[in-house]
Amino acid sequence: MKILTVIPTYNEIDALPTTVDRLRAAVPESEVLIVDDNSPDGTGDLADEMSAADEMIHVLHRTQKNGLGGAYIAGFQWGLARDYDAFVELDADGSHQPEQLPDLLSRLDESDLVIGSRWVPGGSVVNWPLHREVISRTGSFYSRTMLGLKVRDITAGFRVFRRSTLEDIDLSSIESVGYGFQVDMTFRVARQGKVITEVPITFVERTLGESKMNGGIVLEAVANVTKWGLAARAETLTQKIRVFTP
Ligand code: GDD
Ligand code: MN
Repeated sequence: MKILTVIPTYNEIDALPTTVDRLRAAVPESEVLIVDDNSPDGTGDLADEMSAADEMIHVLHRTQKNGLGGAYIAGFQWGLARDYDAFVELDADGSHQPEQLPDLLSRLDESDLVIGSRWVPGGSVVNWPLHREVISRTGSFYSRTMLGLKVRDITAGFRVFRRSTLEDIDLSSIESVGYGFQVDMTFRVARQGKVITEVPITFVERTLGESKMNGGIVLEAVANVTKWGLAARAETLTQKIRVFTP
């Protein structure tokens, strides 16, 4: 199985090397694609140096900060144009522990999407401020309710997609710019009746660099989830109603 781990970066110069080293040690067979949005701190140049020193590491440069969703879509399209069988999503900041990736990969033969989950038994978060936990849990709860999903950690960013799962999604139609991208992808995979497996992980809040989470990202996700939920509901209602005109 050919694996591509996609790592989006924006100003991750301090955290990126350790994360990639840990990944290369934990899953040596995985190739790596760093998708950098022209980080002002020079992360893109560092990524080029890492790529020059290790043929398993590739870099995709984008010209401006265009959101997590856009970075992943560009990375997936890069990989789909090549012969990878599995696509991993991994944050650059060390929150997702590469040492847990084998646990996720081991479930891929029976799943179309594997999610590293904080909110299933055995999953946890270390060092998160209370407001982040509230946003994440509330966001997952709202999304589950609105979209009728059974996934516990809907916004999770540590995942493995089978190639066919990505091929069956029209990536160019994904509008989510921010972390709502994760909800968008989960919803689309679930609606196709595909198998989603949640594997418990320990998410460790970063000690280097800063989170790119902001109010706009939350608002975009809430607005989209509401829109998708109402649209799905309208579809169901339309299908059940018959109008007889006298
Ligand atoms: N290329 C690019 N462009 N990368 C980005 C951008 C962007 O606009 N925004 C964020 N990133 C990268 C960061 O550099 C990091 O590697 C990763 O995406 C995650 O960003 P963080 O800012 O560290 O996210 P977080 O820790 O606040 O959020 C985590 O939890 C969210 C909610 O559960 C992540 O795991 C998210 O994926 C998750 O949705
Ligand atoms: Mn983070």
